Amino acid sequence: MPFLPISSALSNSLDTHIGVSPAVADGREQNVTNNDHTDALLKLLCEPQYLSNCAWHGNFEFAIANVPANYLSSYNTSVSCKSGKIDNVYAPGRNHLFVPGPVNIPEPVLRAMNRKNEDYGSPAVLAMTKVLLEDVKKIFKTTTVTPFMISTTGIGAWESALTNTLSPGDRIVSFLIGQFSLLWIDQRQRVNFNVDVVESELGQGANLDILASKSVDDTAHTIKAVCIVHNEMTTGVTNNLATVRKILDHYKHPAFFLVDGMSSICALDFRTDEWGVDVALTGSHKALSLPTGIGIVCASPKALSRPFGTSSTPNPRYVSSI
Ligand SMILES: Cc1ncc(COP(=O)(O)O)c(C=O)c1O
Repeated sequence: MPFLPISSALSNSLDTHIGVSPAVADGREQNVTNNDHTDALLKLLCEPQYLSNCAWHGNFEFAIANVPANYLSSYNTSVSCKSGKIDNVYAPGRNHLFVPGPVNIPEPVLRAMNRKNEDYGSPAVLAMTKVLLEDVKKIFKTTTVTPFMISTTGIGAWESALTNTLSPGDRIVSFLIGQFSLLWIDQRQRVNFNVDVVESELGQGANLDILASKSVDDTAHTIKAVCIVHNEMTTGVTNNLATVRKILDHYKHPAFFLVDGMSSICALDFRTDEWGVDVALTGSHKALSLPTGIGIVCASPKALSRPFGTSSTPNPRYVSSI
């Protein structure tokens, strides 16, 4: 094998994505010869201190296939490693995430989860859920909305926000300022909403002058919702939600105000009540620093008053029905 940077060798060998290759992550990127390369791979694969420094969610078949068996046995590898897979659950050390989004779960939270399970129908679970639903309002700075916790990630929470408040064909104004706003727009188009896309240059925030001019023009109130990503993760830009609310109020526009707070709620100041947000959403795995899997969607009384959307045509719904 010719000279090969460790990181590209590893990325070639992985069939799932890695946010940052481990060698790059800890500054070990270098050129190595064939033998060095095998050694380096083994170190990366088998030594606990490397594993614990790396966020790998990968399939190591290629790497293992290229390693002589005696090398493997001379290292203190885990069973899962010998079988050609690194298993994040059973591999030694701690798996750290090096991804822009889900965060490492703090030790106290991990320890708090170490308890026996409950029957999901038991009164204890109902009692705990009630407390959670009440407490979560503090994070959204609200006393007026109804929070829902659903088993999904951000994308499911998006769909839930849309399909529970709007009807197919509804006109929505939305801002394209990065990858997550793009994906949310794409979802809306795929579930048959009619989206006015207001695009900004990458690195810029939402163009709210255009929202103002659309609000003035829309005397017939054809715009049913304004959807905005509070903090666009891919560019780091935070939109000004207070201004969106001011514009809608100024023109007495009744459109719903739907906000993706995935990467902001619990990390940035987020004022659901003050900004008159009708639907705000986040996920357990973001700033809340919990395991992935719970979407938290808060709906204002106005949003709840339209349980089937803005017309009598209901949306097709799946897990997102709240
Ligand atoms: C702003 C924003 N919206 C939506 C999402 C999608 O969330 P998920 O990956 O949980 O589906 C992300 C994910 O990083 C995000 O940062």
